[in-house]
Amino acid sequence: MCAVPQGANPLAKMIRAEISNDGPMPFARFMELALYHPEFGYYEKDADRVGRRGDFVTSVSVGAVFGQLLAFRFAEWLGAIDGPVRIAEAGAHDGSLACDILEWLAANDEPLSGRLTYTILEPSARCQGWQAKRLAKFDAQVEWHDSLADAPEIRGVIFSNELLDAFPIHRIGWDAAKRDWFEWAVTWRDDAFRWEPIDVGGGAWRALLPAWPIELLNVLPDRYTIELSLQANAWWRAAAGKLAVGKLVALDYGHGPDDWPAANQPNGTVRGYRSQKFVDDVLANPGEQDLTAHANFGLAKRIGEEVGLQTEEFTSQERFLNGTFAEMLKSAPALGQALDVRQVQTLTHPAQMGRPFRVLIQSR
Ligand SMILES: C[S@@+](CC[C@H](N)C(=O)[O-])C[C@H]1O[C@@H](n2cnc3c(N)ncnc32)[C@H](O)[C@@H]1O
Repeated sequence: MCAVPQGANPLAKMIRAEISNDGPMPFARFMELALYHPEFGYYEKDADRVGRRGDFVTSVSVGAVFGQLLAFRFAEWLGAIDGPVRIAEAGAHDGSLACDILEWLAANDEPLSGRLTYTILEPSARCQGWQAKRLAKFDAQVEWHDSLADAPEIRGVIFSNELLDAFPIHRIGWDAAKRDWFEWAVTWRDDAFRWEPIDVGGGAWRALLPAWPIELLNVLPDRYTIELSLQANAWWRAAAGKLAVGKLVALDYGHGPDDWPAANQPNGTVRGYRSQKFVDDVLANPGEQDLTAHANFGLAKRIGEEVGLQTEEFTSQERFLNGTFAEMLKSAPALGQALDVRQVQTLTHPAQMGRPFRVLIQSR
């Protein structure tokens, strides 16, 4: 891929203008513009950004096996619910995963396919266009909603793959001298976007700070940094509220309830990706590189439980998919043997996607 010179995307200019008017910009706002600006945002640009030819790969880009295993597992869950059911996917990107799931169900579970609607939760009109094209043959079975607020109650499964890590985050640092948290904002200085601490007093993120004992705060290094996503949490709460009966599932990389905040990540987990590589400067070239941070499964779990969901499982992708594969081999050996084993290995190998990726399953 050709290098894009700093500032080639008009977003950089727009962000500079906003900073010049309003002062340093919270990183959550920077990330929102960089990823989701309706015209110049990273995820609005072209469908090839995710995948082997793009900037980063996901479990979906490994091949159809990810969708086939999910379809098998979802079919088992949906089998326990009578009448019309839905699978609702958020962050469906170009519709590849939806297509893999619907194809497997059409081929292997006709009775379920006949009572299933596939609901895509997609705010971006451009992404909806890519998805409609990819899913043309399932036209009668697929529906779109711009947001959870517009979606019907879901009897079935609401799920996402790598959605939680793509929500804008607040970067929060520890000021050891003041013994208080501050927010990292973005400013423009010496011809580049640069980090700038701002004191925002009662930022909405304060309610989400980890409840650390005083002994730990006493030794926390100056500028130790964590991330908090108000938007990811609000999304999980809304999704839990939409679930009438069934499962709410997130697959992603991230922290669990017992390993956040992480002592070995003093600078937090914000990363930029371009052409399958980490980028050194996450503030460079807004709109031209992916920005992401660890999902916070601990907060999602807590929020789901607050609104009445039960936590069924929080596990690694390795255990979740291997368990699903083993069950498939046992109950439908021909279907299990038909899967591409190399893809299963990539998805579940501890050193590849098996350990870093995790799965939260809650139910009502
Ligand atoms: C990292 S990509 C993952 C794409 C795909 N799920 C995969 O695994 O290959 C994150 C996706 O989430 C989408 N997204 C972000 N916020 C969303 C929201 N509120 N509702 C639905 N999708 C959203 C983005 O547009 C982007 O396509």
